[in-house]
Amino acid sequence: MHFSSKDISPATAYKLLTSTVLPRPIAFVTSISKEGQLNAAPFSFFNAMGSQPPVIVLGFEPNADGSQKDTPINILETKEFVVNLVNEELSVQMNMCAASLAAEVDELKHADIETVPSLSVTPPRILASPVSMECKLLNNMPLEGGGQIIVGEVLHFHVRDDVVTGLEPLRIDISSLAPISRLNGPLYGRITDQFTIKRPK
Ligand SMILES: Cc1cc2nc3c(=O)[nH]c(=O)nc-3n(C[C@H](O)[C@H](O)[C@H](O)COP(=O)(O)O)c2cc1C
Repeated sequence: MHFSSKDISPATAYKLLTSTVLPRPIAFVTSISKEGQLNAAPFSFFNAMGSQPPVIVLGFEPNADGSQKDTPINILETKEFVVNLVNEELSVQMNMCAASLAAEVDELKHADIETVPSLSVTPPRILASPVSMECKLLNNMPLEGGGQIIVGEVLHFHVRDDVVTGLEPLRIDISSLAPISRLNGPLYGRITDQFTIKRPK
């Protein structure tokens, strides 16, 4: 079946993307408004995009009423945020933070999430997250329909000690990291079903 983007609704385009570009990693983003209000929310239009400097990208849809979500507003205003990766233990609290809450609600308090101060940015990182990345805004691209693409440079990586199984060369135990991924709708994936392919020389 063929779908031309010029003939389909934004809702169908969203469905096509979110039901086929799978699995998507989840960035649980902590940010602070310019008035100092703490915010946390999950985003699966997310990935790593480059390593020199280390760069990640986030995609934000507008709210149903066309307004911007609190996270992109905060990032564009303060130029700082933290991407916290999500494992199964964090998943219920992560999902609580996806509720449409008023900007003045502290989602971290709402979901009973403990944070620790960051080294270089004002938003704190999430203690229970296996990996947190302190980021500064590198670039942004507003989309015609009200969405926003944000590119962040990672200033610091915080990785839970047991996940790092070697230094020089760095070794990460992905089974301990155990990130979950977003599938479509309420479906999530684990990384427990793996197979190997050796890269040709
Ligand atoms: C797993 C998951 C992934 C999500 N991914 C996105 C996303 O990539 N982009 C987006 O705009 N909203 C996404 N959402 C919805 C936001 O988390 C939700 O709109 C949230 O209330 C935004 O909060 P904020 O206004 O505090 O930024 C996702 C929700 C969940 C549960």
